[in-house]
Amino acid sequence: MARVLAALAFAIAVASNAGVAELGTEIFHVADVFQEDYEQMEQQLKVFVYPDPVVYTKLAGKYASEGYFFRNLMESRFVTTDPEEAQLFFVPISCARLKEEGLDHDEISDNVASFVESVIAKFPYWNRTMGADHFFVTCHEIGTRATSKVAHLVKNSIRVVCASSYSGPFIPHKDVALPQILQPFPSPRGGDDTEKRETLGFWAGPANSKTRILLTKTWQEDSDMVISTKHVGMQQFYRSKFCICPSGTRVSTARIVESIHFGCVPGKSYLILSDHYDLPFNDVLDWRKFAVILPEQDAGTLKDALELAPYATLHRNLLQAQAHFEWHSPPIKYDTFHMVMYELWLRHSTIRY
Ligand SMILES: *[C@@H]1O[C@H](CO)[C@@H](O)[C@H](O)[C@H]1NC(C)=O
Repeated sequence: MARVLAALAFAIAVASNAGVAELGTEIFHVADVFQEDYEQMEQQLKVFVYPDPVVYTKLAGKYASEGYFFRNLMESRFVTTDPEEAQLFFVPISCARLKEEGLDHDEISDNVASFVESVIAKFPYWNRTMGADHFFVTCHEIGTRATSKVAHLVKNSIRVVCASSYSGPFIPHKDVALPQILQPFPSPRGGDDTEKRETLGFWAGPANSKTRILLTKTWQEDSDMVISTKHVGMQQFYRSKFCICPSGTRVSTARIVESIHFGCVPGKSYLILSDHYDLPFNDVLDWRKFAVILPEQDAGTLKDALELAPYATLHRNLLQAQAHFEWHSPPIKYDTFHMVMYELWLRHSTIRY
């Protein structure tokens, strides 16, 4: 066991310090298939970016994922200036940027529509597939409404969107869940530190959903748990085995990613149908290896579920997951940027019409 942990610690040190990362294979559905296909993606994937992109450049705050994606793509080897060589076409609109410029929702959707219409009129590529080999990225909640005036953009093209914009028609085999990651993280990764984790389950936040109310009512007095509607300091993330991520008024992955970073195994409740698909990269990563996924109505029996979960294994696997939920500039192998690019690669078609 100790040797396994030492090797793992080394792999993670390599992943965070240099551009060459060692892949933690426990958390994948089929790791060797991923690895082989990923290498192919690195060599072959080419993206054409339409001219005059409206980009978001902030690498902090709620929409940092949008900023990192734009920046990472431009500094990556995936961009080609030859559209004939491209498998995918990037429609570079940024809802966060347009919002920042003070446009209201209606103006944003007009702006997006006119950008897409000009792309359709000026270039022959959209019409070849009706946009099926086109993608756009947005982490802003407005995402769905912003694209409402271009039906084909929503229906045909690949939407790379943060979970908070799922109110729209998210189609799992077509669209890509972009993790919402609030970087920079306020403190370092949690590591091989299970002996310091004495709290069984932790959650703090506003009780603004049915699950959160049930969670608070049932567990706030429990001495093995820290469940609170009041502010609890960041350190609690390092002291807890499991961090509960109940759905609130908005579906967001920010809390889940924070838990992963701090080494606290996410206990994620799900609502069938509504946030069934909000776990990023779940067609590649097997979330059950590093998180406890619970039906929403089970908040009342949460403690049993956490006590029965194979904590040591989940925590060890969680450390392997950390590298996939971090942005870097420039991007590094297997980080969030590359995972998103891999998801796009899985959705590209090899047939040209
Ligand atoms: C693509 O199709 C639309 C609708 O039929 C048309 O208006 C547009 O001119 C076409 N684009 C090009 C570049 O031919």
